[in-house]
Amino acid sequence: MTQPKSDPNSDTVDAVILVGGQGTRLRPLTLSAAKPMLPTAGVPFLEHMLSRIHAAGMTHVVLGTSYKAQTFAEYFGDGSAFGLDIEYVVEDEPLGTGGAIRNVADRLRADTAVIFNGDILSGLDLTALLATHRHLAADVTLHLVEVADARAFGSVPTDPDGRVTAFLEKTEHPPTNQINAGCYVFKRSVLEAIPAGRVVSVERETFPGLLESGAVLAGHVDSTYWLDLGTPAAFVTGSADLVRGVAPTAALPGPVGDALILDGASVAATASVIGGSTVGRGVVIEAGAVVDGSVIFDGARVDRDARITRSVIGSDARIGADSIVDDAVIGDRALVGARCELRSGIRVWPDVNLPAGSVRFSTDG
Ligand code: GDD
Ligand code: MG
Repeated sequence: MTQPKSDPNSDTVDAVILVGGQGTRLRPLTLSAAKPMLPTAGVPFLEHMLSRIHAAGMTHVVLGTSYKAQTFAEYFGDGSAFGLDIEYVVEDEPLGTGGAIRNVADRLRADTAVIFNGDILSGLDLTALLATHRHLAADVTLHLVEVADARAFGSVPTDPDGRVTAFLEKTEHPPTNQINAGCYVFKRSVLEAIPAGRVVSVERETFPGLLESGAVLAGHVDSTYWLDLGTPAAFVTGSADLVRGVAPTAALPGPVGDALILDGASVAATASVIGGSTVGRGVVIEAGAVVDGSVIFDGARVDRDARITRSVIGSDARIGADSIVDDAVIGDRALVGARCELRSGIRVWPDVNLPAGSVRFSTDG
């Protein structure tokens, strides 16, 4: 890993990553792995995020875990292999985003903490975020981005000085398309004032409460690259953007390009792997197959002339000859027979065996 850029303030800042969510929108992939541990452009998604934190010069990282808590420590250990000092805090019952933040308070070493949602791919300049926080002498500074439709996010209006004026989590009529991008700087004293030992939503309780009490919440707008990888469509987009070098990372296990073929994969000469696809270890792609903008997990097999677009194929799954898989999620070890057609957001559960010629479309929109 490259040497961190020296930001004079970064070693006085703790990084906290919230990774305790169940990733329900990514099922069935998240039945076997937590969302931040899903292989994304060749490594667990979280490794890309940690590479950005390392590059900004932060070294002390606390992971707030709950769902599949042990899998994080198994992979990242004490963090030294990644140039970091990583600690883990486990919630027996999920405490919500605010509860999870409060729950790590006794591990903090500095007076300032940067909190990250663990499913965000972002080009945010962390040094600039910290500079805004200090410049506005804020209690909390929120990274904000513009999206086309804010209904699935926290809508965050600001005044001309960059002060946050309201926080509205997932409302039908958001007042602005400027949204909470899922990265905050907290003064430690403000973080410690979150109630301990119970479920708290930072979005629904802490931020509105702070605004009510007159605290200074600053907005820091940065729109270089931003994506929440919480849905299958976003997951394949984010992975492809990492492979193609559109999304920033220092953890790509190969050169930037149109495809990432990992060690031990075999791709037939007449097969085509394009659009930022990742082909995992031990995968076999047979002659004439097309894999476009997709993620093929380790050990899967794509038979001849099958066509996979914008999809995720789980570990050790098999896609039969001449099948079409478009905008779909195929669970681990599932067997899709020859000449099947799977489209429009369909999800095939692990170990399912689809007979040849099956046609499936999603009905859940
Ligand atoms: N430790 C812990 N405990 N982590 C949690 C818990 C919990 O109980 N609940 C959620 N998390 C983590 C998730 O793992 C994820 O990394 C992060 O908190 C946010 O949860 P999501 O479930 O991904 O929330 P969201 O995407 O619907 O909305 C959030 O992110 C949007 C930006 O992508 C909100 O913060 C929105 O306001 C924001 O706009
Ligand atoms: Mg999310």
